[in-house]
Amino acid sequence: MSDRLYIFDTTLRDGEQVPGCQLNTVEKIEVAKTLQDLGVDVIEAGFPISSPGDFESVVEISKAVTWPTICALTRAVEKDIDVAAESLKYAKKGRIHTGIGTSDFHIFHKLHSNPDAIIERAVAAVKYAKKYVEDVEFYAEDAGRTENEYLAKVVEAVIKAGATVVNIPDTTGYTLPNEFGDKIKFLMENVNGVHNAILSTHCHNDLGMATANTIAGIMNGARQAEVTINGIGERAGNTSLEEIVMILKSRYAVLNIDTGINTKKIYGASRMVSTLMNMPVQPNKAIVGRNAFAHSSGIHQDGVLKNRENYEIMDPTDVGINESGILLTARSGRAALQHRLELLGFEVDKEKLDKIYEDFINLADKKKDIRDDDIALLVGDATRKERRIKLNYLQVVSGKDLKPMATIRLDISGEKFDATSSGNGPVDAAIKAVKQIIHRQVIIEEFLVQAITRGSDDIGKVHMQVVYEDNIFHGFGAHTDIITASVEAFLDAINKLPVAE
Ligand code: KIV
Ligand code: ZN
Repeated sequence: MSDRLYIFDTTLRDGEQVPGCQLNTVEKIEVAKTLQDLGVDVIEAGFPISSPGDFESVVEISKAVTWPTICALTRAVEKDIDVAAESLKYAKKGRIHTGIGTSDFHIFHKLHSNPDAIIERAVAAVKYAKKYVEDVEFYAEDAGRTENEYLAKVVEAVIKAGATVVNIPDTTGYTLPNEFGDKIKFLMENVNGVHNAILSTHCHNDLGMATANTIAGIMNGARQAEVTINGIGERAGNTSLEEIVMILKSRYAVLNIDTGINTKKIYGASRMVSTLMNMPVQPNKAIVGRNAFAHSSGIHQDGVLKNRENYEIMDPTDVGINESGILLTARSGRAALQHRLELLGFEVDKEKLDKIYEDFINLADKKKDIRDDDIALLVGDATRKERRIKLNYLQVVSGKDLKPMATIRLDISGEKFDATSSGNGPVDAAIKAVKQIIHRQVIIEEFLVQAITRGSDDIGKVHMQVVYEDNIFHGFGAHTDIITASVEAFLDAINKLPVAE
């Protein structure tokens, strides 16, 4: 008989901690519904004590989602647990995820405590959370660097106190796959009562080993994996959901473990999260990258044409990639667009569909084939809030041996402002013109330009990171004109600055 692995998705908590990826509550609900559709077992919806926005998101996601368990993160602190319990009051199934650092680094240099006192705090937190909910998960932060004998004592104590799931995070992404696998094996073999709870993996990707470590944990007895869509997360990210699910599916004969994930919804979920979080998916990303199923070399193309399995270990349609269905053109109607949106995991009402359709027709005038990434971008545009500072007009003159010049008009809260500037290139000239109008000391720290699909008529995406008064703000812009996309990205970041008195 096969075993079942529970998928715990933390895109909306650990994933959302990435600078520049923050979502508003409406967007989080949209992602949560997509995760539910995908079939995840648990949605970690936020860290309610950390901000009123996080609290509200957990409340609203609890109302919007019907069957997955909704989880709220806390420290091993009573106030955190009180607030988490309050945020979960509408959840059909609620879980509190509490915990504390267990490595020597955390015990001595972060918490300034000692190992026995940490066990006492861990037990007290679990017991306190149990007063509110039956389902309590405990995390032993930095378990990856925690000595196994001591970790076993912590795990045994929290299970005795009532923890239903014990999370063994490799917080710093440091362990090797065999070390992580051995750690889970050690706990399975040395913790009294270990079968009264589920052991969970939560691996970070600092050394590119998150997926390998998670699989090693599963092969040694962990039955919950904490993952994010596209592997997003702090620093190098978390274990990616799509990789774990497709490893278990593709290597089922060896691993004999199932998940409840509908794999055909993976591609849509990936595109939705990438769009709403403004986080590009690297082209060679396993499973969901643009090139994941592209065979460019002649030998491979020939082999695939003879028999797909010569070079493909997965069928792209299994993850929801269906090349023949991807193209839409200016002749496609509203129904075709809506159907495509549904396949991509977007639920839109009539008003939003009208707006997206209008933008779609405008884009189809400029670009021959509209692909899934383009559509996801249009949905992102329709979801974004009205901006205070808008680009009204932009004209640039540039070319070989010409001094680049830009003329710009901004609409700031309904008032129009014009400026003209030169620069060392057209983007530089346009940004300088914007700066003449906004009069604020903003420095561009990062400027990433990406073409989305293919062809010179493609949409260019620009991600920008700016610094203002020691704070970082992120902006995103997309347009078939790369200068316009750059100015839009700059304005997106500027719109997030505190409004000057
Ligand atoms: O990486 C980590 O240790 C975490 C815990 C808070 C679960 O995210
Ligand atoms: Zn984490």
